[in-house]
Amino acid sequence: MAEIRIENLHKSFGNFVAVRDSNFVVHNGEFVCLLGPSGCGKTTTLRMIAGLELPSTGRIRLDGEDVTMQRASQRDIAFVFQLFALYPHLNVRANIAFPLHSQGMVRSEVKRRVEAAAAMLRISHLLDQSVSGLAAGDRQRVALGRALVREPKAFLMDEPLGALDAEFRELMCDELRGLHDRIGATTVYVTHDQAEAMSMADRIAVMNEGRIEQLAPPQEIYDRPATTFVADFIGSPPMNLLACTAPGGGLAEGASSVLLSGQPVRVPRLAREVRNPNLTLGIRPEHVVLDAHSPLRARVTASEYLGTLQIVYLVVGSEESPLRARLRSDLEFRVGDQLGIALDPARISLFDAQGSALATTGSPEGARSG
Ligand SMILES: Nc1ncnc2c1ncn2[C@@H]1O[C@H](COP(=O)(O)OP(=O)(O)O)[C@@H](O)[C@H]1O
Ligand SMILES: [Mg+2]
Repeated sequence: MAEIRIENLHKSFGNFVAVRDSNFVVHNGEFVCLLGPSGCGKTTTLRMIAGLELPSTGRIRLDGEDVTMQRASQRDIAFVFQLFALYPHLNVRANIAFPLHSQGMVRSEVKRRVEAAAAMLRISHLLDQSVSGLAAGDRQRVALGRALVREPKAFLMDEPLGALDAEFRELMCDELRGLHDRIGATTVYVTHDQAEAMSMADRIAVMNEGRIEQLAPPQEIYDRPATTFVADFIGSPPMNLLACTAPGGGLAEGASSVLLSGQPVRVPRLAREVRNPNLTLGIRPEHVVLDAHSPLRARVTASEYLGTLQIVYLVVGSEESPLRARLRSDLEFRVGDQLGIALDPARISLFDAQGSALATTGSPEGARSG
């Protein structure tokens, strides 16, 4: 098992920067997901860790050893691709054993490792079957078995479940996480699917245009997005982002209200003074609540039923800031209804004009929390 340390990693293809100044550590035994939209540099990052792509600049250390210039075959790391090619003329046992035979390992050790991997993946009963008749999930397990038998220092997986249908993907997520908990191997897992990342990762690195915007445990990513990009990428529907202003042209340290569509709204206390008055207020749809006495008014533009809940689409004030509220579905709304709404101050995030979260000193006075 191993620690993976990425230092100032940078990759350009001609003028195009695919990965910019990436710095992170995957701790020994940790499961880290690289999450982000298509083209943000996830695969390129993973391929550099694997040794399939050379970085333009920067270093990769495996357990402290600088492996930046080592070939893939010299690094003790297993890479699992989405498109796994099994050898159709070989049975399950021979497919799993393949990388060991090509290393010239003695037969008794090959047998031991293959059977241990099959047991771990719960495919012992399939060992002597042909791979051509296998269901997609079992093929995926055979592909994983081929990585497992090498007993590598770390696993890299690039959207390994992308080819599976949704229901099966969920099952395999559980299995992969379970497998990780049993063997405790350091894992870097690439996906564009936030639900996969949320359910499996110890920590998630959210990437955008080659940059890591935030690296944190799933709940922190959800509750305290570091940037407006993360706020908007995570959650369905995502966090509401509303333009607001600082009263008096700036916010002093300790200030705890902003103006939203002309109305003062309580927010967490700021840890530092902010000079630029153009801010963004972030609040998740489940933290927008109805409050008939609130001076903050919103107009209903649509609603969408989700069984026990509904997403109600609102606009606030005259500035037409769109806002989604997650409310009980037994409440009835008509388009055009005017509602009083309240935003739970303890749940508000504030972002500066560049989209970076502003540090706060916790809840505003008297605000409820939890
Ligand atoms: N060999 C290459 N040559 C030129 N551009 C590339 C190459 N590989 C990747 N890219 C570009 O780098 C960007 C990041 O790609 P990639 O890491 O595959 O993204 P992701 O896996 O997040 O979808 C994309 O815009 C892609 O077109
Ligand atoms: Mg990719």
